Amino acid sequence: MTKIAVVPGDGIGPEVIGEALRVLAALAPDIKTEAFDLGADRYLRDGTTMPADVMARFGSEFDAVLLGALGDPRVPSNVHAKDILLGSRFQLDLYINFRPCRLLDARYCPLKDKSEADVDFVVFRENTEGLYTGVGGQFKRGTADEVAMEQEINTRKGVERIIRAAFSWARTNGRKRVCMSDKANAMRHGHDLWQRVFREVAAEYPDLQTSHLYVDVLAMRLVQAPQEFDVIVTNNLFGDILTDLGAALQGGIGLASSGNLNPGKAALFEPVHGSAPDIAGQGVANPLASILTVGMMLAYLGRAEDETRIQAAVQRCLKAGRVTRELGGSLRTTEATDAVLAALG
Ligand code: IPM
Ligand code: MG
Repeated sequence: MTKIAVVPGDGIGPEVIGEALRVLAALAPDIKTEAFDLGADRYLRDGTTMPADVMARFGSEFDAVLLGALGDPRVPSNVHAKDILLGSRFQLDLYINFRPCRLLDARYCPLKDKSEADVDFVVFRENTEGLYTGVGGQFKRGTADEVAMEQEINTRKGVERIIRAAFSWARTNGRKRVCMSDKANAMRHGHDLWQRVFREVAAEYPDLQTSHLYVDVLAMRLVQAPQEFDVIVTNNLFGDILTDLGAALQGGIGLASSGNLNPGKAALFEPVHGSAPDIAGQGVANPLASILTVGMMLAYLGRAEDETRIQAAVQRCLKAGRVTRELGGSLRTTEATDAVLAALG
């Protein structure tokens, strides 16, 4: 039996995940879910961020984890988010952060004269190293002589496996172009490794067109000509930044979904957006990113046709303007889900 661990999290997380679970129940009533009380409330109550036994269960007992959002003004250190989200990525070795940027309705694109076909690319963001490992240190903290170091980790294994994942996905999914992005003109050691590995792996995929862009140029190009991209592969930090840009191109962070993957292992799926504490509890958050995330999760679980149905239903709601207010509609969170359920038929 398929089992999903659910971590609703903070802020609007529980609201949007609750809605996404309604869609899951409608399409896949056979899938079992178990909710985990992890997040800011739990941390403030008893100091727990991410128990080791829960992490172990995520990896062994569940097919996937569905995470809402983490972040709460009462926990300025964000230690719980770091332990739960980054902890899962690192400890479950979820090296692929898979982030599609697909425009479902041209009217929501902030660029002028772009059609739906113009924004349809996927970012393969390296998810287990780069500048995210916490390797570094502080020296003479709080003094005028303070030193703070953040080390960027690039391993041969880590760089190679994310680049391979991008190429392999492109070929399997009929995409023609793979672009690697780094900053090798300034970061001579780590990003030289990316360049060499990219060339090596690319040689195994002569059927695909490859390109390389420094990340600053890529940011510019994504705004000027998003239609030039099918698959982008890049490091952890650049992938983080570029996928917020990509989310904006596809109609906003309220529509962006992501999967933290290591094929064959338990995966973690989350909407790209944060916990939006300013609108939490008001019933106005946009549930579509979480609903699309459930679609991505179902595809990962071998139910690609359910993802197609969810995308089509969300697209129908977008085209009809049956959306929450940040997309220009007037629906409340539950009503937006009702609209998706109705469109699913
Ligand atoms: C994301 C988020 C996280 C990240 C934060 C919350 C640590 O921005 O998933 O994109 O940077 O990976
Ligand atoms: Mg981010």
